[in-house]
Formats: sequence, structure tokens, C-alpha cells
Amino acid sequence: MSAEPLEIHLEEQDLGRSLRHDVRVGLTADPKWLPPKWFYDARGSELFEEITRLPEYYPTRAERAILAGRAGLVAELTGAKTLIELGSGSSEKTRLLLDAFTRRGGLGTFVPLDVSDSALRRSTAQIADDYPGLRVRGIVGDFTRHLDRLPAGGRRLVVFLGGTIGNLLPAERANFLAAMRAALESGDWLLIGTDLVKDPAVVVPAYDDAAGVTAEFNRNVLRVLNRELGADFDPEAFTHVAHWDPEREWIEMRLRAERPMRVRVLDLTVEFAAGEELRTEVSAKFRPAGVAAELAAAGFVAEAFWTDPDALFGVTLARAD
Ligand code: SAH
Ligand code: AVI
Repeated sequence: MSAEPLEIHLEEQDLGRSLRHDVRVGLTADPKWLPPKWFYDARGSELFEEITRLPEYYPTRAERAILAGRAGLVAELTGAKTLIELGSGSSEKTRLLLDAFTRRGGLGTFVPLDVSDSALRRSTAQIADDYPGLRVRGIVGDFTRHLDRLPAGGRRLVVFLGGTIGNLLPAERANFLAAMRAALESGDWLLIGTDLVKDPAVVVPAYDDAAGVTAEFNRNVLRVLNRELGADFDPEAFTHVAHWDPEREWIEMRLRAERPMRVRVLDLTVEFAAGEELRTEVSAKFRPAGVAAELAAAGFVAEAFWTDPDALFGVTLARAD
């Protein structure tokens, strides 16, 4: 079966409006910040894929190892008819689940949802080719806004991999989980990947690799603003920073202005002092008890928690209560 045409829940116009809003709020705040979803144009999505192959970036390998061991059990326990994936990107690890469901039988539809239409176009075409018989319905959408539009009917399993939930701020995370629960029926399932708290000597290099790929990924948001909003950032004048916050147990990616700069964007003139840092991403690391508590507060019951042999990463299977 070929992939169905993408369902666009995020039109160019809507995307532009939401980008302009975020830029206006974030670049007039003190300290300045931008939400991480704007990294992911076609180049940003490619750079993320490159990050997943870096020796320092352990989350993808650790999560893949967990899924490789548990995909069959997930298929058995959930018996899902529809698999929905949020922030699906390339859906590369999701193939382990699709393989397990193919062996078990019964899965009819795969629904990847992502803000990146380029990533989605490529992944849906490849998955439709590789899984004949599976209906593939890609949705261009925002998982912080469009969960009420997920397809209904049949036992559903929503997967949210990579630790992307950690890129939401704590209040956004609570809102996201509540909206996720509201979108599901009792008895539907959520499979969620979370990066775990560990020695910063392991975490920091994962966000500050020797080859400089993460630095390019970070600066890419400035290129997106230049192209989409006609801003005049000089990306090379910003240095990549990966800062571990020990109290909040998260990595903050920042871009540090190396000299005083005045940037024009929209109708704003944004001043940067030399050394000023713009926050571009938070990547929270979790403790198992915290994950279960946040899920419970949103109306989910954690049925299983799995980790890799080095306890780097966690995958939780939760049921909507
Ligand atoms: N799930 C994949 C990709 C993770 S990268 C993996 O585990 O490797 C994060 C993905 O989420 C990107 O593809 C990005 O485009 C998407 N994304 C980020 N913010 C989003 C949002 N608000 N709504 C929908 N997709 C989003
Ligand atoms: C998508 N997300 C889980 C990645 C992370 O690790 O927080 C994005 C990323 N940022 C820098 N490197 C990778």
C-alpha cells in the first residue's frame, strides 16, 4: 500500500503565525529563549538524524536496545489496532514495533505525526513500501496543540520516543500529558521514552559532541528565522553552549553571542550583549519514580518500566485509566 497523502493540520500560514508569536515572546523576554520545535526544518531534521549516530549521543542506541528486547511484549500486551507516533521524525526505531506487530498480526494503521513535513514525507513513503498491508496516515501537526485530532476507534497505542517529552518545560509536560489522556479512551496505551538522570560527564558530551554536529543543529534555528522571517542573524557569531542544571536535572542548549549584536526580526530590533545567552532547548532527564508520578497525575497507570543494561534510558508502557 502506498502512503496516503499527508494530512496537514499545520498549514504554512498557521506555522508562520505560531513562529512569529514564539519569536515575539521569546526574543523580548529576559533571558531570551526560543522553543525547540523550530529546529526541525529539512536541514534540522537531517542534523538530528546525524546526532543519533554520534558516538557521544547514547539515547538513541539505548532506547533502540530496549525496544529490540520488548517490542514483542508491547505488541502482546497492547494488542493495538492503531499505532500513533508523536514527533515521529524518521520513525527508525518504531520499525522494531511495526515488525513485532506484523509478526503478531492485527495492527491496521500507523499514524506518524510531526511538525517536519520533510521528515514525514520521507518516513511515510519508506514505511508504506516496507510494510505492505499497513495503512500509513502521516499527520503534519503539533503535539502540543493537535492531540484532539488523532484518529479514533480501535485499541490505540501512542508512542512518544527519543525522550522528546523532556524537551517540554514542566508545565508544558503536565498540559501535554493531560491532553494526551483526554484524547484517549480508557484502555488505550502510551509508550513513552525518557532519558534518565546520570553522571553529567556522560550527559554533557551527548549535547556537545566533538564533531560539532549538535552545534550546527543548535545554530540551525537562527537559519530558520533568517529564512522564514527575513531576520538578519549571523549564526556564526553565536557559540553553542550545553549547560547541565543540577537542580532541575536538565540540559539547556543555548547560543552565546560572541560580540554585541543588533538583530532585525519582524518589527523588532533585538539587542544582544557580548556573552549574552539565548536558550534554545531544555532536555530534561528523569528518575523512574518521577515518570510514574507524572503519568499517574495525568490519569495513566504505568504497567511496565524498562531500561537498558547501563540504565541510561527508560521506556514506560502506561495504560489510560
Ligand atoms: N522520535 C524520533 C525523533 C526525535 S527528534 C526519535 O526518537 O529519534 C524530535 C522530533 O519531534 C522531530 O522530528 C521534530 O520535528 C518533532 N517535533 C518537535 N516538536 C514538535 C511538536 N511540537 N509537534 C510535533 N512534532 C514535533
Ligand atoms: C529530540 N530530543 C529528544 C533531543 C534531545 O536529546 O533532547 C534533541 C536534541 N538536542 C540536542 N541533541 C539532540
